[in-house]
Amino acid sequence: MHAEARDLIAAMPLPAVLIRWDERIDAANAEAVALLGDGLVERHFITVLRQPVLLDAIEGTLRDGAPRKTRYLTSNGRQDTAFDVSCRAVALSKGPGVLLTFSDVTQMEQAGQMRRDFVANVSHELRTPLTALLGFIETLRGPAREDAAARERFLEIMGNEAGRMERLVGDLLSLSRLEAEERVRPTQPVDLPDLLNSVLSGLAPVAAEAGVTLIPELPEAPLEIAGDPDQLRQVFVNLVENAVKYSGKGAQVTLRLSAPAYHPRLRADGVEVEVIDTGPGFDPLHIPRLTERFYRVDSHRSREMGGTGLGLAIVKHIVNRHRGRLRIESTPGKGSTFRVILPLRAAPPRGEEG
Ligand SMILES: Nc1ncnc2c1ncn2[C@@H]1O[C@H](COP(=O)(O)OP(=O)(O)OP(=O)(O)O)[C@@H](O)[C@H]1O
Ligand SMILES: [Mg+2]
Repeated sequence: MHAEARDLIAAMPLPAVLIRWDERIDAANAEAVALLGDGLVERHFITVLRQPVLLDAIEGTLRDGAPRKTRYLTSNGRQDTAFDVSCRAVALSKGPGVLLTFSDVTQMEQAGQMRRDFVANVSHELRTPLTALLGFIETLRGPAREDAAARERFLEIMGNEAGRMERLVGDLLSLSRLEAEERVRPTQPVDLPDLLNSVLSGLAPVAAEAGVTLIPELPEAPLEIAGDPDQLRQVFVNLVENAVKYSGKGAQVTLRLSAPAYHPRLRADGVEVEVIDTGPGFDPLHIPRLTERFYRVDSHRSREMGGTGLGLAIVKHIVNRHRGRLRIESTPGKGSTFRVILPLRAAPPRGEEG
């Protein structure tokens, strides 16, 4: 083959393999070697590409010259990778050939799967309260028509269910807004001790009702960071509310703000806000998934409390938008700590960040 053709294959950004009329590999670029292994040239293609659908496609194109598209799947034990493979006929000097190019479609397929899962989850979350509402409407029209006491009771439940649907829709909207602006870093000055104090006083009635003691460990002096005050409030309301909700009677929830310090994880100066509870905690195996939408440790308990399962997903997005970090620790029987590390000042321009 011409050196020029070989150079062309080497210059292709995707894995590319050229197969000759005698069914041997004529050329392969570095990307193909990375995918299929060393020593490809002059081997019979069947010994390299062992997947039947791909072999059929290559043979077909060698025979009739028509282009074909097919799939190639690999796995390194931890992760599966899916390729779309294109087979195109090429006229070589001594006969027909086939050029294979591999494009990695794993991420596209994963994104599609995530979208389908998300829609399924949302539908499921909405259907539960909706089914309850429909059931009660039915009952109010029929059996409970003249029963004033039952009517009151059912209307209250219906109000709760409708409220849950409203919260769910509100949370979904705030998530999609957050996603849209995640790359825009907020820059308003926010006095953290002041904000955290007002979060605590806002939740004092909830804590009192739950029999939980709130313990502030906040500095007296103002401490300003660059951020979005409404969103930061949302973060700490969510975390303190969770701590109160899931810890239950007799528990203590501490809200602690540390002095500014250099944080290696941020590669910058930052502050740490900790929400520490003495509640039941959970198995640390849940931690990696806790910030996923709709993930709950105990879904029955969360739903009973009117939770949407979106709180921590929102927290995670807001913290990301502030270029901060969220760390979760929990010991079953002892309690949990949710730690938010926030940079003090606006970050250096993109590219210099880690
Ligand atoms: N402090 C905590 N102690 C024990 N479990 C917790 C704590 N915080 C969160 N969880 C668990 O994590 C799950 C996810 O929390 P998240 O805030 O995302 O959803 P939620 O509280 O169920 O709903 P929402 O916050 O939307 O009302 C909760 O359902 C709960 O099982
Ligand atoms: Mg919550």
